[in-house]
Amino acid sequence: TFLAPLSENEILGRQLRSIYNIAGFYVISGDADANQSTKDGLAKVTAELLSRVLTDGAIVSVTGGSTMASLSDYLKPAVKDLLFVPARGGLGESNHFQANSIASALGEATGGMHRLLHAPDYLSKSTLESLMHEPDVKEIIQLNQQSDFVIHGIGEPFTMASRRHSPEGEVEILKRNKAVTEAFGFYFDEHGNVVHRIKTVGIQMEDLAQKKQVFAVAGGTSKQEAIETYLKIAPKNTVLITDEAVGEYLMKNR
Ligand code: BG6
Repeated sequence: TFLAPLSENEILGRQLRSIYNIAGFYVISGDADANQSTKDGLAKVTAELLSRVLTDGAIVSVTGGSTMASLSDYLKPAVKDLLFVPARGGLGESNHFQANSIASALGEATGGMHRLLHAPDYLSKSTLESLMHEPDVKEIIQLNQQSDFVIHGIGEPFTMASRRHSPEGEVEILKRNKAVTEAFGFYFDEHGNVVHRIKTVGIQMEDLAQKKQVFAVAGGTSKQEAIETYLKIAPKNTVLITDEAVGEYLMKNR
């Protein structure tokens, strides 16, 4: 799908899009770490881009996080029968940042539907195996595999490990293997090798390539390296929505 550029930092976005060879690249003004308004701006542009491609009955997988949290403030009921599915389980943090809350707010904002996933994002092997047979959980797994679009955040790995209350042994693995980026519970080193993946019923990296479009939404100085590295492994159908703090860093380091 071709997405026409939005006017803000259009040239920078176009240049980065061709350097990284992904479906779209949008850079909004500011630094999301410094200003909540920039963070909200990322959500606003994402909502705008998403509404250009949504069609009746589309299924959209959404992760959680603070960047995703205000998406529902900007998405309008333009098409019918949308279904929003949490792409991740729960994290022990604010309800507002949970994939479940975001999926339900998006369903409400668009006059569509949503599903809920009643499981923590981080599971032990035995719990994962038994949960996968629960009908409600099975449905979510299938919907995430079938979904047309994915919207997700990108994180700094040690921040995400602490938000997930990951055990010390796991943090050690991340340190030893020099993790620099994280997305959907997958942790990567600077070369884009997976150094660790959490056991989860949530969406898998392998599911992304067949989606119509994947929206990766992240910005802020603290995520510069994480985003730079994620771009090495992002599937080609990815549209990145970021801010100047990241866009200018990427341009300097290219
Ligand atoms: C989550 C994603 O939704 O958002 C994570 O599953 C990502 O992969 C995180 O790292 C980023 O959160 P935030 O709060 O920095 O937007």
